[in-house]
Amino acid sequence: MATTRVTSDVITIERHILHAQEAFPDASGTLTQLLYDIALAGKLIASRTTRAGLADILGAAGHENVQGEQVQKLDLYAQQTLYQLNDHTGRLAVMASEEEDDLIHIPKGYPTGKYVLLFDPLDGSSNIDFNVSVGTIFAIYKRKSASGPGTHEDVLQKGADIVAGGYMVYGSSTMLVYTAGHGVFGFTLDPSIGEFLLSHENIRLPEPPKYYSVNQGYEKYWTEGLKRYTRWLQGEEGAARSLSLRYIGSMVSDIHRTLLAGGVFYYPADTRDPKKPSGKLRLLYEANPMAYVIEQAGGYASTGRGPLREVEPTELHQRTPLFLGNRDLVEKAEEYIAKYDI
Ligand code: AHG
Ligand code: MN
Ligand code: MN
Repeated sequence: MATTRVTSDVITIERHILHAQEAFPDASGTLTQLLYDIALAGKLIASRTTRAGLADILGAAGHENVQGEQVQKLDLYAQQTLYQLNDHTGRLAVMASEEEDDLIHIPKGYPTGKYVLLFDPLDGSSNIDFNVSVGTIFAIYKRKSASGPGTHEDVLQKGADIVAGGYMVYGSSTMLVYTAGHGVFGFTLDPSIGEFLLSHENIRLPEPPKYYSVNQGYEKYWTEGLKRYTRWLQGEEGAARSLSLRYIGSMVSDIHRTLLAGGVFYYPADTRDPKKPSGKLRLLYEANPMAYVIEQAGGYASTGRGPLREVEPTELHQRTPLFLGNRDLVEKAEEYIAKYDI
């Protein structure tokens, strides 16, 4: 009797990665397991985020982090979840997080592995109490040191050398979007079975793009080039078309929308805060992984003056201006900045 396969479209992350892994004969499965652990962390964080108003998990934790920002309770929960799911598996040489001042070493007694995990455990924290989408961002590299405890050299790697990267977005649905260098894939959490299922195969930035995304509240601090560029996006300055503005203030959500609808997201350097001449976003665990996803989807990511993923990191929490999205829109930003800003 011909049995219709009721499970043919049930593609979990594990099945997807294992299938993709067939293309890598020397793959040991470690990357698959690492991505599975990250997805598990996402399920746990999602379970708290969707009930944030009920559990005692809203609001500030009562101290500042290395960034000088108020730590939210959900930041802490996300940080601890990612750490505890990865500290003992033997897959990592070292970790680094937005929420920790320095390297996060594998505890004594546990083996170290060949990968390095960098992450922003909860992105968009300032929006938690207002029920606006937040996310988790992750970047995976191969360790550079031979063995033993991971080093700064293992962590301070440029985005061009990233092995896999992506994000989870805790919004109207919980999604995990990742790339390992062979396209961008989106998985949607089915809460009824607790699995992320493949929902977006090989995502490509659409043409024509729909939105530009920037915090226009800072326009008074912008350079001439940025002001003219934004007017170009709005359809003045001889632009071929005008884009609508969408800005959520959670980078993961703003970039997820850019990936699916097309457009440009930018958080430029501005003159607002002399202590932060390079803007607000962090290179290692925000800009680079998101840049990798966008470029694997056919887009481009820039500092405004050149390819973002070519920046050689020197500091764990260094910041960078970020422009990413459809290539022609991002290259136009580089043009305006080169022409009008010294
Ligand atoms: P985080 O919550 O991890 O500190 O990141 C917040 C970032 C990013 O998500 C967003 O794009 C940006 O902060 C918003 O900053 P503004 O409020 O200055 O626009
Ligand atoms: Mn962030
Ligand atoms: Mn964060």
